[in-house]
Amino acid sequence: MRVLVAGGAGYIGSVVTAALLQGGHEVTVLDDLSTGHADAVPSGAGLVQATLHDSAPVLADVRPEAVLHFAAKSLVGESQVKPEIYWDTNVTGTLALLEAMRAVDCRRIVFSSTAATYGEPESVPIREDAPTRPTNTYGASKLAVDAMLTSYAAAHDFAAVSLRYFNVAGAAYGLGERHTTETHLIPIALQVAAGTREALTIYGEDYPTPDGTCIRDYIHVADLADAHLLALTAPAAGEHRIYNLGNGTGFSVQQVVDAVREVTGHPVPVVVGQRRAGDPAQLVASSDRIRADLGWTPKHTELPDIVRDAWETARARR
Ligand code: UFG
Repeated sequence: MRVLVAGGAGYIGSVVTAALLQGGHEVTVLDDLSTGHADAVPSGAGLVQATLHDSAPVLADVRPEAVLHFAAKSLVGESQVKPEIYWDTNVTGTLALLEAMRAVDCRRIVFSSTAATYGEPESVPIREDAPTRPTNTYGASKLAVDAMLTSYAAAHDFAAVSLRYFNVAGAAYGLGERHTTETHLIPIALQVAAGTREALTIYGEDYPTPDGTCIRDYIHVADLADAHLLALTAPAAGEHRIYNLGNGTGFSVQQVVDAVREVTGHPVPVVVGQRRAGDPAQLVASSDRIRADLGWTPKHTELPDIVRDAWETARARR
């Protein structure tokens, strides 16, 4: 299939681009390179530097049969202090992309949604029919796009899938996390193990969990990529499907730190700090729906394996 990958120079978008190329698809990446890296775009894919707002001429030129949409601002903390950036890029930027798709009669899309659309869960594991009450602007902006896709499917015959990612980690095809502003636990812990950062601050150890630290559902980026390829052809015209993507197993911050020490063989000094605002104690996905509908099965569910892939890829870059 001829596909356009919006945000294909970022961490997840670049890995999915590599998986698409391996699957025989023809790929053009659209990315404004505001947070992505041109050298992360796998050779074999074209790269056009443009924003979502300026995507119309690119789609007119490429004439894709489907779009995979990863392009977004994704820092929860920043979204609380600069909400305008999140409404502009994530919501009106996506609206521009959907209109650019309509103009070339491309109506198939896979969208990167997030666990942050649910907010503080009433119960775990979280299913897709759980209430959506985001606690930050980032989650609210992604939820707005999910609603947009529901209405574009109903009114304009779009075939759409929203994939709600939980905590994506690991590396594949030599591509891993490389954020200028790093806020995620595993890459930070690996930087400490590598000696490029002094210590890891654990944000609170007084949560109602077995060891007092927060529990998250870490999903390997390669398993996430598999889900995108399955989702690409799944919906019929007029259908918008929503799927959670997680391992279904939660790991605590302390367990992640232990795994990083074990895999790297290096000390990881930790400091226990205050809770981070807006962090729920536990976020674990029920991914039963995508397993049942699309036959998706995560293959890399062990924490040390996820951490090892991230470590080896980061080390190869140093
Ligand atoms: N943590 C620390 N120290 C750090 C960084 C993180 O203790 O230096 C803890 C956090 O408090 C949290 C866990 O590690 O308990 C994971 O934190 P991340 O920042 O790695 O990931 P989040 O769970 O906060 O965020 C993820 C996605 C977001 C998404 C969110 C949904 O990365 O995009 O889940 O709530 F919005």
